[in-house]
Amino acid sequence: MHAAHWLLLVPSIGIAAMALVAAQPATPPPADVATVFRTLCENCHGATLAGGQAPSLLDDEGLHGDSDADLARTIREGALTTAMPSFKGALTDQQIRALVIYIREGRARASQGTMPAPPTLPARIESERHAFRVELVADDLETPWGLEIMPDGKLLVTERPGRLRVVDGDRLLPPITGVPAVWEKQDGGLLDVGLHPDFQRNGWVYLALSEAGGAAPGDSTTRIVRGRLHDGALVDQVSIFQATPALYWASNTHYGARLLFDRQGLLYFSIGDRGRPAESQDLGSPYGKLHRVRDDGSVPADNPFVGRTGAVASVWSYGHRNQQGLAIDSQTGALWATEHGPRGGDELNLVVKGRDYGWPTITYGMNDNGTPITDRTERDGLEQPVVYWTPSLAVGAIAFYTGDLFPRWKQHLLVTALAGQQLRRLELDAGRVTNQEVLLRGYGRVRDVAVSADGPIYLALNNPGRIVRLVPER
Ligand code: HEC
Repeated sequence: MHAAHWLLLVPSIGIAAMALVAAQPATPPPADVATVFRTLCENCHGATLAGGQAPSLLDDEGLHGDSDADLARTIREGALTTAMPSFKGALTDQQIRALVIYIREGRARASQGTMPAPPTLPARIESERHAFRVELVADDLETPWGLEIMPDGKLLVTERPGRLRVVDGDRLLPPITGVPAVWEKQDGGLLDVGLHPDFQRNGWVYLALSEAGGAAPGDSTTRIVRGRLHDGALVDQVSIFQATPALYWASNTHYGARLLFDRQGLLYFSIGDRGRPAESQDLGSPYGKLHRVRDDGSVPADNPFVGRTGAVASVWSYGHRNQQGLAIDSQTGALWATEHGPRGGDELNLVVKGRDYGWPTITYGMNDNGTPITDRTERDGLEQPVVYWTPSLAVGAIAFYTGDLFPRWKQHLLVTALAGQQLRRLELDAGRVTNQEVLLRGYGRVRDVAVSADGPIYLALNNPGRIVRLVPER
């Protein structure tokens, strides 16, 4: 009796299951297109489609053709050698079609001038430990990337398209002339700026940038140079780091490049994996590494891989994907670094000489198109992050708060985020994070942070490009 019942039931279950499988592509996608865009695309192309880490989707001279079919093909297949992932497995044809329409709608809004206005800065923010005000210092900047405070209180700011500028009070001075030509595409351009610890005496300004070079047009990579400011020009230029011609590639991603001097006057700089994760584990490649050199680019004898056959002598630590923030705790001397993970794997690391930070062998993230990289998040011999952020914030620059204006933030770590459009405050205790607070969110992507000796905190914001200052409000 029971057996007969089963015989009757099984085929009908089988048919139902088959029907489900067969019907799937025709089923309307569960999420509406705005949600799909927000979860899969916004991180790179920006909430308003106007671009960020990736190009704007609003210009209609498409990089890969501009018909509906061209747009759909790019979304389906991705763009080789760039960060644009293939969404073939992750999205149905119907969802891709909906995204094409969504992009067309965005373009129509942009051409009618109905783009949302940049958010006005908040009058007062009440946070856990301090109330503060956000003051506008400079605007109309184009993708400000690096920000330094000079001893005289003026600011030195890079704009990614290739300009270096001084901000004097609330005046944005004309660009410094003689800055090296940069390769500006996607992540590339004029990146960080750093001041020699003895800047007041020797005047050295350091720049990290991506430049064209190598065998084929379109090849590029990271270079570090230094020069002096003289009469509005950058003079006495010297290369501090330059790759061999074979290391210039057609990739426009993961150039790094954050600059930081330590107390001994040694220069740290990061270079990302340039879109090829295996580089990070190869000690013979400068990519996916944190480097340490003297102020003139020469390598200190006590660097960890000096004398190892085939290793790049300037390497300080490895297994990094794309470090965007570096800071030294002046009390302990410890070096902290943030790293752009893949989707869902942003990291904060305590960086120790010679150690392997694991990319791409272990990671807390997955590929940008939602496909897995690995299920391994830890392994013996590979360093764990102090914290990781899932979902990713696209963590950027970091700085310790060392001023006197916000006494209850003393020695806390300020962490910026691009996609997350925020400034976070992290309380640390013995190498661990004990509390995190978002201080500011939603006023544009936060690219750099600098703490001035007299106490205010300066931020470089993107989309729109502005410099702002946080001051206490009593
Ligand atoms: C990890 C970053 C990243 C993500 C995520 C991403 N893109 Fe892209 N996308 C890029 C980059 C980089 C390019 C430029 C490719 C090039 O330079 O050839 C691009 C190019 C494109 C283009 C071609 C633009 C043109 O002008 O021809 C389209 C269309 C596009 N993306 C749509 C999407 C959509 C829709 C999503 C989400 C489903 C998405 N992208 C997710 C990085 C990304």
